[in-house]
Amino acid sequence: MASLRSLGLLVAAVVLMSAALLPPSAVAQLRTDYYASVCPNLEAIIRNSVRQSMAQSQISAPATLRLFFHDCAVAGCDASIMIVNSNGDDERRNSDNQSLKREGFQTILSAKAAVDSDPQCRNKVSCADILALAARESVLQSGGPNYQVELGRYDGRVSTRASVVLPHVNFNLDQLNAFFSGLGFSQTEMVALLGAHTLGAADCPFFQYRIGSDQTMNPSFASQLRGTCSSNPTSGFAFLDPTPVNFDNAFYRNLQGGRGLLGSDQVLYSDQRSRGTVDNYATNQGAFFADFVAAVTKLGRIGVKTAATGGEIRRDCRFPN
Ligand code: HEM
Repeated sequence: MASLRSLGLLVAAVVLMSAALLPPSAVAQLRTDYYASVCPNLEAIIRNSVRQSMAQSQISAPATLRLFFHDCAVAGCDASIMIVNSNGDDERRNSDNQSLKREGFQTILSAKAAVDSDPQCRNKVSCADILALAARESVLQSGGPNYQVELGRYDGRVSTRASVVLPHVNFNLDQLNAFFSGLGFSQTEMVALLGAHTLGAADCPFFQYRIGSDQTMNPSFASQLRGTCSSNPTSGFAFLDPTPVNFDNAFYRNLQGGRGLLGSDQVLYSDQRSRGTVDNYATNQGAFFADFVAAVTKLGRIGVKTAATGGEIRRDCRFPN
């Protein structure tokens, strides 16, 4: 028994030693205190900058949170979504990203300018980390949970239109599970992450096709939406839940009432396999908040780059150095 224990300790020591021998840049080691010595005021700088962006536009917070998802789900959390290529071939110009609102991009560019106005921090903080922090602020300053953001991502140098693969509003639960399990999420984690749709709005083309044909849609909600989109088929929009500037669990209660705007949201309730999770979050905001924090933290770990894997600290978030 004693020898087994010492063998275990020896194995543990060898594993620890070999980890210590690896060059620090070879493995992405995210840490909440990554910038503590180089840019100690980072979190306050971004908090203030995002506060100003949110004061200027109610779209800022939802657009920024969505931007974080569209960045991390494609080529990892490397701010590749921010890149503007002169030949027009970049993620942003893929049709699935055309509806990203400019306010989200602007929130990140303003936060980057605020960070760089502190001489200590200038060109030391990656755009990918600024995006992760700004997403947290968008949640927090909308009344959602506070959480520690893991940091230490490097920015990617590559962004192409063809690399963009994102889920669509007409996905059923199997298709949603297939996409999100590919990113490492369980079904429950996916339901928690989609609670991000407690913020913001969608344009008519994303839900108009359901009106009148989707039996899971509440009839009075359907006629309300018909009115919204018939007058403005392209520029009309509706909120994703009744409290679109508050990060809360109203999104899930809304699904219980057949008032989910997107088909991919409503299916979380209409399919028996995920309904229990929706019911749980609808009655227990604390459980939603805890699970959302775990899920958004996991989102932030996808495909993280390091200096050794071709990453860099971008000087301008729109262009590789
Ligand atoms: C099944 C997966 C998803 C689908 C099909 C989907 C689709 C959409 C669509 C169509 C819109 C409306 C866009 C517009 O008209 O402006 C939207 C908005 C939004 N999405 Fe998602 N989304 C998904 C997952 C996520 C995730 C995982 C997050 C974040 C963690 C997220 C955050 C948001 C936010 C905050 C908005 C509001 C944006 C705004 O008001 O500008 N979405 N989403």
